[in-house]
Amino acid sequence: MRSSELRILGISGSPRKAATDFVVRKALEYAKNKYKIKTDYFHFYGKKINFCLHCDYCIRTKKGCIQKDDMVEVYAELEEADAMLFGTPVYNGTLSGQLKTLFDRCRALVAKNPKALKNKVGAGIAVGGDRLGGQELALLTIHSFLLINKMIPVSGGALGANLGGTVWSKDLGAKGVEEDVEGFKSVYKTVDRLVELAILLRKTR
Ligand SMILES: Cc1cc2nc3c(=O)[nH]c(=O)nc-3n(C[C@H](O)[C@H](O)[C@H](O)COP(=O)(O)O)c2cc1C
Repeated sequence: MRSSELRILGISGSPRKAATDFVVRKALEYAKNKYKIKTDYFHFYGKKINFCLHCDYCIRTKKGCIQKDDMVEVYAELEEADAMLFGTPVYNGTLSGQLKTLFDRCRALVAKNPKALKNKVGAGIAVGGDRLGGQELALLTIHSFLLINKMIPVSGGALGANLGGTVWSKDLGAKGVEEDVEGFKSVYKTVDRLVELAILLRKTR
C-alpha cells in the first residue's frame, strides 16, 4: 500500500497564529514531503467553538452535536483522517482550554459514529514558554483523550521524543520555536512514528 493514501490531520490548539501554529504546520510539511501523504490543518484563531453543554442531545439522538459552530468543520476532518497530530500551547502546566474543549466536543462525534476515531493513531506536540513548563503533562492529557476514544497513542520514543513533541517557545511565538532545534527533532521523530504506525494499521483494514 502506498503511504500517499494516508491522511493526517494536524490541529493547533492555540488561539493565536504563533508558536504552536508554526510547529504544527512544519510537522505537516515534513510529513507531506517525506511520505507524500495528504495533510489537513485546523487551527483555532478566528474560530468559534463552544464548550460542551452536557445536554446529552448527542447521546439521546446519535445525530451529532446540537451546537452548530466551527466544530462542524473539525468533525468532518476527524472522520476523514487516518492519523491525528494534536498541538497545544502549555497553559498552567497542561493543554490549552481550546484543545480540551475540542476533545470534550468529540463526545458527540463518537456517539454518532463509534468508529469515527477508533483504531486511528494520534500523537501530541506541546509548546511551552518554558523548557520544562508542563509539556509532558499536556502530552499525557492528549494521550488520555486518545485512549478513552479507542485511539492508539504514539510518540517518537526514547532518546528525545519520549511522550511526543516537546517544544520551547521562550514566549517568543514562531521566532522562539524556530531556534529550538532539539524541540523540532522531537516533533519529527514523533511524526515518523505516527506515519509508520498509520501505514501498518491501514494494511490491516
Ligand atoms: C494562560 C497562559 C498560561 C500559560 N502557562 C504556561 C505554563 O504553565 N508553562 C509554560 O511553559 N508556558 C505557559 N504559557 C506560555 C505559553 O505556553 C507559550 O507562550 C506558548 O508558546 C504559547 O503558544 P502560542 O504561541 O502557540 O500561542 C502560558 C500562556 C498563557 C497565555
